[in-house]
Parts: sequence; C-alpha cells; structure tokens
Amino acid sequence: MNELNKISLQILSGGKGILAADESTGTMTKRLESVNVPSNEKNRLSFRKALFSSESMKNCIGGVILYDETIKQTDGSKSITELINENGAVAGIKVDTGAKTLSGSPEEKITEGLDGLRERLKEYYKLGARFTKWRGVYNISETYPSKLCIHSNAHALARYASLVQECGMVPIVEPEVLMDGDHSADVCYKKTSEVIKRCFEELVIHKVDLSGVILKPNMILDGAKSKKKINSEEVADLTLKCLNESVPKEIPGIAFLSGGQSEVQATENLNLINKKNNTNFIMTYSYGRALQQGALKYWSKNIEDITGTQKVFNHRANMCSLAAKGKWSKELELQN
Ligand code: 13P
Repeated sequence: MNELNKISLQILSGGKGILAADESTGTMTKRLESVNVPSNEKNRLSFRKALFSSESMKNCIGGVILYDETIKQTDGSKSITELINENGAVAGIKVDTGAKTLSGSPEEKITEGLDGLRERLKEYYKLGARFTKWRGVYNISETYPSKLCIHSNAHALARYASLVQECGMVPIVEPEVLMDGDHSADVCYKKTSEVIKRCFEELVIHKVDLSGVILKPNMILDGAKSKKKINSEEVADLTLKCLNESVPKEIPGIAFLSGGQSEVQATENLNLINKKNNTNFIMTYSYGRALQQGALKYWSKNIEDITGTQKVFNHRANMCSLAAKGKWSKELELQN
C-alpha cells in the first residue's frame, strides 16, 4: 500500500470521518456573530480547541481540516497539529484562497490559489499537515453550471491535487454543487454527475494517483427552494447511483460535505447511504456545520463551559460515526 493511500484510510476507516474546521476568518466571524460572540483570535481558537481536545476525537474523527490561522496557533507549548495528532487524528489544511468571479461567466465562480501553492504546501507539511482541501463551487440554474465553469474548476482541482501529492499529502477534491435554488433532485443528480466526471478526467490527465485522493462531494438533494422534497431513501439511492457512475474505483473513500443540511438530516442521509452502500467506497462525513452547529450554539451561551460544549460535540460526532457505519437510529439520536 502506498503512503498516500495509507493516510487516506487512516482518516476515513472504521466509522471515522473528517471535522471541517477550516472556516476562513470571514466565515468564522459570520458564524460567531450569528451567536453573538465577538470574533477575535482568542475566541476562534478557544472554540476550536474545545472540539479538538474532546473525547470523540479518538473514535470518531480521523482528520481535522484547519485554516491558515489555526495551523499556526499553539495551545501552550503544543502546536494545534500536535494536539490533533495526540488524539490519533491527522491534521489537514485548506489551501485554496477562495471562489472568485469567473471571467467569461461573471455569475459563476472559479476557485483560486494555485500561484505559489507549491511553496505554501511545503510550509504546511512542515507544520504537520498530511492532507489538504480545495473547494470548487457550482450553482445550478437553467444555464448553470456552464461548461466553462465545470472545465475551469476541474482543471484547477487537478493542478492542485497533483501539487499536493508531489508534496507527500492527500488532496481532498471538493466539487460542491450548491443546494441553493428551486431545481429538482434529478437536475442535481445530472449536474453533479457531469461535474464529478469532468474532475476525474482532469485528475487522470494530470497523473494524480487516485488511490491517494479523497472525494468530498455534495449529496443529491432537491434545491433548498424546491417545493417537492424527496425523502432520505431517495437521497441515498440517487447519491449512490451518481457516485457509482461517476467515480473511478481506485478512490479509497468519499467524505460528504453537509452543505446547509441540518445536523440530523445530514446524519440520517449518511446513515441510509451506508445501509444501502453498493459501491466499494468508504462513505463517511467531512462536515463543517453539521458537526459544529449545536456545539457552537451551546458554547456561545456558556463560553467558559468547555466540558458542556464537548458533550454536545461528542454526541454529534458519535451520531455521525454511527451513520458512517449504517448503525444510526432516531432513538439513539434522542439519547443524550
Ligand atoms: P459544510 O459541511 O458546512 O458544508 O462544510 C464542509 C466544508 O468543508 C465546505 O467546504
């Protein structure tokens, strides 16, 4: 087994998943201000440290995605990557510099960050990172995502992935088809399939070793404003169909984003995906909001109560881990 495949499996195996704690300072500020906590360096670290040192890190979290600010912070004499490694998890880092207006199709986005990336990757490796994340973002409408958006983002994702592997780290390839809009799940299925297929075509052209790549896709859902809502069984069926048809078998695993689903919704859907899993892929979570929302809400009202905050987070992480094994239930969800 090669080293990158080994790292991927360490992150994803045995009901473990990824904690996406890589909100940029702008996004984290929005999250903190939404619960009336001032966003400063100390508060951002304090909340994140509570999560990174919680009990559930050992059994539920195989990897943590950090933001540039966090990977350079310390907890006393310990670096944040050391704190994460102590709990048996792998530290990762978001390396894109955000989605910017796509020239030629100004209502769409292209993710930037390739300039100087090789040097930044070397620095992150020295700081202890062993995997990375880059997110391409796609909107659905009658005309979007355009071919230009699909091709440009796939090309950037492939160039990124190739550089990351060259530096000895595992790239998370995240093409996120947003749930904004009133489209049907069927349209989401078609667009997501097209987006993912194009990404893998580019990854192959760029000679990326697929056995050392983690795919982070969206689930197949109705648009948030769609009047018709499919149930979790249908979400699981369509998601599995899409991934079976679009993802090469060499990939070690798939870690879904939550994308605006509620914590329980994201857990229930993942559980059914695993119950019905007819692929050879590990199917797990790489959740941001669906792992942190409850804990953030609790912490914002009890900022000194780290144990209480960790209790909320542990429950959520345990539920996600059960879902990654297809063993979650509504009854377990209510046991707190
Ligand atoms: P959400 O789970 O909140 O969608 O965040 C995951 C993520 O890392 C988006 O890039």
